[in-house]
Amino acid sequence: MTGMRVLVISGASAEGNTSKQCRAFLSGLPSDWESESVSAGGLRIAHCEGCNACRNGKCRFDDDMCQIFESFDKADIIVFATPVRFNAPSSQIKTVMDRFQFLWNNPGAVAKKRRYMTFIGSAGRAIPDVRSLISAFRSFCLGFGGTWLEHHVFAGTDSSTAGMEEVARDYAVGLSETVIAMETSSADS
Ligand SMILES: Cc1cc2nc3c(=O)[nH]c(=O)nc-3n(C[C@H](O)[C@H](O)[C@H](O)COP(=O)(O)O)c2cc1C
Repeated sequence: MTGMRVLVISGASAEGNTSKQCRAFLSGLPSDWESESVSAGGLRIAHCEGCNACRNGKCRFDDDMCQIFESFDKADIIVFATPVRFNAPSSQIKTVMDRFQFLWNNPGAVAKKRRYMTFIGSAGRAIPDVRSLISAFRSFCLGFGGTWLEHHVFAGTDSSTAGMEEVARDYAVGLSETVIAMETSSADS
């Protein structure tokens, strides 16, 4: 099986727990896989206004979402990364997701292929409520015809982040093994 291309779309601050997890995650992927990280906070991305001008094939905002769509087009695996904020994804990541309305209205703008999706999160509470994150990211995945993979949330950062990076790296190892098994079984059938 040829190497996969992984896109991490982060809605977290550059030096926070989520970014540390992302770096560890990337270090745990197979060496022949390509990866790219995009930090939404560092980009110029307007909020979707739901005007649906994109039904005519072009979003009214000409900003850094073009770069994310290009990366999404090439990616086989998309990993959203976010701190848990009031039991929800960060506003940076939600801003990116909402702008996918363009792709919803223009599915032919990206290659039709299998894309795996999931998310990595950081949570302050020991037992965070992540149901709305699962719901949001999973429905995004299924809405765009993706294949959902098990997510990973490191919980309890208010008390300790010990082992956080090791767990994120192990998660990447498990995730890549799952993808390889799924790709192999679909190639065999
Ligand atoms: C505005 C805000 C809301 C938060 N809401 C939650 C929450 O609902 N549940 C939780 O477990 N932690 C919550 N936290 C804590 C963060 O999820 C936690 O500190 C996390 O490790 C931050 O990750 P980061 O360093 O990547 O930003 C919140 C933090 C902030 C700043």
